[in-house]
Amino acid sequence: MLVLGIETSCDDTGVALYDRDAGLRAHALFSQIGHAAHGGVVPELASRDHVQKLLPLIDSLLREAGVAVGDLDAIAYTAGPGLAGALLVGAALARSLAFALAIPALGVHHLEGHLLAPRLEAQAPDFPFLAMLVSGGHTLLADVRALGCYTILGESRDDAAGEAFDKSAQVLGLGYPGGPAISAAAARGGATALRLPRPLTDRPGLEFSFSGLKTALVLAAREQPLDDRRRCDLAYALQEAIVDTLVVKCRRALAETGHTRLVIAGGVGANERLRERLTDETRELGVALYYPRPAFCTDNGAMIAYAGCLRLAAGQTDEGGFGVRPRWPLSELSPP
Ligand code: KG4
Ligand code: ZN
Repeated sequence: MLVLGIETSCDDTGVALYDRDAGLRAHALFSQIGHAAHGGVVPELASRDHVQKLLPLIDSLLREAGVAVGDLDAIAYTAGPGLAGALLVGAALARSLAFALAIPALGVHHLEGHLLAPRLEAQAPDFPFLAMLVSGGHTLLADVRALGCYTILGESRDDAAGEAFDKSAQVLGLGYPGGPAISAAAARGGATALRLPRPLTDRPGLEFSFSGLKTALVLAAREQPLDDRRRCDLAYALQEAIVDTLVVKCRRALAETGHTRLVIAGGVGANERLRERLTDETRELGVALYYPRPAFCTDNGAMIAYAGCLRLAAGQTDEGGFGVRPRWPLSELSPP
């Protein structure tokens, strides 16, 4: 079974070919850069870019993989959650192409894609595992028992961790996306004793809250002139605060659930400091740590092709129309 995966939930156009037997055959990504000037993703611009880029990207993916469009057995696409217009571009193309080829199309949950992405790697985690999904739109801890069996143990009450990186980068004038920019600046900072809060770590529970951290950063930024040195020190303090908070919650969730496998997924999972800290932490605890390669932490077509292939191979069919679900709670998913 050869599945074409299409991801267009936000500002990345991702496509991939996943073969049930041979695994990942090819993948390609177009990252929209036009949003940087606006300090964040502009939904209408994202949709227009997907319209322009998606078909040519699929074309070159098939050509590079030496696959004819007629060889496809199914098409999986992100049906939500995400930006409505952006999702609709992927859904319309996937559904039309599948209709023309008389093959099935399946709408995939974007977060299920992220949760399963580490299984694309050679060192793949078996079920069950504890997953921490940290992206621009979500921050959550989930008990993952099998395909479609997810229990959310805690999530953010407000901003996602990635959002905290992005908004703070904007405050510091470091550009968009904020995660990599803060990370690069942090590598040159850290000389001061400046410390930002670790939200909700002083009380029990697995919930997160990152909106206050941005306010703390804004106040700290006002204390002194914002020169290059100060920017890097603030970036360092912010990264330490976010990473520390995530590590504390992971440790807590591991203790509560007794899981011996920890999976990190989502764009913030590409953060090197987070990986470094979790590597040390899990080694101490005797827990196996898994994460996808950085390119599969951020949005990509491979995770959608893979999640779709698993569900299709398990017999799931989807007679749905072109509808997308911009808001689609992960807890609504069930096994195929
Ligand atoms: O998973 P993703 O590509 O999109 C969503 O589904 O949201 O995550 C994007 C987020 C952005 O907020 C970006 O700043 C963050 O992931 N990110 C990082 C890093 N690379 C991307 N955050 C921290 N460190 C990074 N290296
Ligand atoms: Zn994502």
